[in-house]
Amino acid sequence: MDLAKMRLEYETAGLAEADVAGDPFQQFEVWLAAAVAAEIHEPNAMVVSTVDGQGRPWSRYVLLKGVDSRGFDFFTNYESNKSSHLADRPQGAITFGWLELHRQVNIAGPVERLDDAESDRYWAVRTRGSQLGGWASAQSSVLPSRDQLMARYDEIDKRFPNEVPRPPHWGGWRVVPHTVEFWQGRPNRLHDRLRYLRSESHDQGWELLRLSP
Ligand SMILES: Cc1cc2nc3c(=O)[nH]c(=O)nc-3n(C[C@H](O)[C@H](O)[C@H](O)COP(=O)(O)O)c2cc1C
Repeated sequence: MDLAKMRLEYETAGLAEADVAGDPFQQFEVWLAAAVAAEIHEPNAMVVSTVDGQGRPWSRYVLLKGVDSRGFDFFTNYESNKSSHLADRPQGAITFGWLELHRQVNIAGPVERLDDAESDRYWAVRTRGSQLGGWASAQSSVLPSRDQLMARYDEIDKRFPNEVPRPPHWGGWRVVPHTVEFWQGRPNRLHDRLRYLRSESHDQGWELLRLSP
């Protein structure tokens, strides 16, 4: 495999200042809808990066489960590695890669824990199987065998024959962006990069900058 020769020319339409929305959330909705319309596989999959107490980064995919002018929400185990990172250093970065459209979106900002009511709301729409999985897996801890995980799943299934309550160790995080960048691939590596920066005082809205590709 010759990775050095592996490249695509991006012939898609560009991204102009005049065409983007006044705030990054509206612009994100437009691009997410385009990703859905293009039937991109798991269009709400995003890479979330965090750092541990010593500044060492780790990235992993999660699913975006909510977005509005407050931020970008995902759900996970509060005792997982990512959650201990966030407890130590509540800062995160997100990347969406909609590669078939030659697009990426990069987001960064402080991360807040969602309140219980918001986590309960999303827990309620998960399937029973996912709910049981949320109890059964001590996410990110070392597991001696897969059998042990399956045994724990069966045990939880019996413990909650009806409604499965949300575990105290499970819930959501919200990345509250100070920066959101929209990247559109263009020919000859002359890509468009439009970056929204939150103004110092929140009610002053967003500044829009064009960055060199
Ligand atoms: C497409 C995709 C979506 C995922 N969505 C989630 C998610 O929404 N929440 C979650 O906790 N893990 C999700 N995972 C698993 C994570 O990538 C990761 O393995 C897990 O959260 C443990 O991460 P940590 O040890 O860094 O905390 C997803 C994985 C993939 C590939």
